Amino acid sequence: MLLLVAGIACSGAEHASAGRAGASGAWDALFPTLGNGGYDVSHYNLTIDYIPDTNRLKGSAVITARATQDLRRFNLDFAGLKVLAATVNGANARPTRNKNELTLTPARVIEKGETFKAAVEYGGTPRTLEDSDGAVEGWIETDDGATALGEPTGSMTWFPGNHHPSDKATYDIAVTVPNDADGDPYDVVSNGELTKRENQGDHVTWRWNCREPMASYLVNVTVGYFDITKGRTSGGVPIYIAVDPDEAEGAEESEDLVSEVVDWASRRFGPYPFSSVGAIIDHLPDLGYALETQTKPYFGSAPDETLLVHELAHQWFGNSVTPRTWKDMWLNEGFATYAEWLWEEENGGRTARQTFESFNNGTHPESKGIWEFPPADPPSGGQVSDPPVYGRGAMALHRVRETVGDEDFFAILRAWTKQHRHGNADTAEFIALCEMTSGKKLSALFNTWLYEEGKPKGD
Ligand code: TRP
Ligand code: ZN
Repeated sequence: MLLLVAGIACSGAEHASAGRAGASGAWDALFPTLGNGGYDVSHYNLTIDYIPDTNRLKGSAVITARATQDLRRFNLDFAGLKVLAATVNGANARPTRNKNELTLTPARVIEKGETFKAAVEYGGTPRTLEDSDGAVEGWIETDDGATALGEPTGSMTWFPGNHHPSDKATYDIAVTVPNDADGDPYDVVSNGELTKRENQGDHVTWRWNCREPMASYLVNVTVGYFDITKGRTSGGVPIYIAVDPDEAEGAEESEDLVSEVVDWASRRFGPYPFSSVGAIIDHLPDLGYALETQTKPYFGSAPDETLLVHELAHQWFGNSVTPRTWKDMWLNEGFATYAEWLWEEENGGRTARQTFESFNNGTHPESKGIWEFPPADPPSGGQVSDPPVYGRGAMALHRVRETVGDEDFFAILRAWTKQHRHGNADTAEFIALCEMTSGKKLSALFNTWLYEEGKPKGD
């Protein structure tokens, strides 16, 4: 027995000089240092202590991953905060930092194919990040707590991880918050389902579980005071809606609408992909955008019907079927925007053709800037949320629909969400599916609408 142990220790030591370092990026053309190479995460277990008064956070991230190569060391994306300790499979691992890269060097080489657990203890005051277009993301303080918004790079501000959409994982998120000065507990809302809420004297722990794979930019934790409404869609999907009392008036219709939109979208796009749905309607009026955080989209104020349709449509397009790289963001935004057009068409408003025309002739308020670059080729990371990706992306889909006909078009949407459910996909796969389903050559159409500079002629 002893000999055997010695033998293992010895081969471990031999390996210590072998193995390669995992790459520091997933080599996304727009965000080269986002994500990391050499491993594939299956689960994050995040345990967070947060004090709203001081905006101080202490965290523990236990990451279960499988090595895709022999790993001498590997990286996690992590911005700000202090690393207090790190282990791999329970043994101390040496942490080093360089900008937004945290490198862990385990005591021995992790072998290709091995499943390992990396644990990082950290703490401090989390930061926000500013996109080049001025939008704020990351850990954001609100008037009664905080929220974490991750698109495209914000999640690294509050937990270390493989922060690229190509590596999806399941999550357990436990957040402990103190009672406030009046002795009232804060509410914590996150993705998936609440499994437990534990009151322990002067603090409370909320345990959330997201059992379907999620890209890390879709993870949300929101702390504050909320009115909670629970229900079910008529199709039976559990609903959990958290409304900041400051937004109560505008949010009155939201529960009925969530139910109606999910049932409608399930008919158009295929079965709802997650085990619950809802919304977080917070009071952060200056945020300037909403985010389709998985199962519960986040709104900084009460959403109008169109915005709610948009964020719920993302649960199919973006959240369940996630782009493999950020260049393909139109697979999120073009589709969610087209869902708005469809909703309007089917609810007594303009037809999708009329909306298409108002984008094409520039009379639609959201048509500003849609010809600036081709939707499937944003020139920089700061432009993945710009108008071409939304408006011209939706126009591309409308041209596909007119070319293949309604029957094939909706069959394509359903096949897309079915084939890539809970996975990743890219534009080439979408084009192939459209051609296969319709039996038509569509490369010219897609080239014109997705890849050519400037406004397409003759459409
Ligand atoms: N993806 C979000 C949506 O379509 C919008 C969004 C997220 C955004 N981050 C952004 C828009 C940054 C502009 C800038 O609902
Ligand atoms: Zn969107």
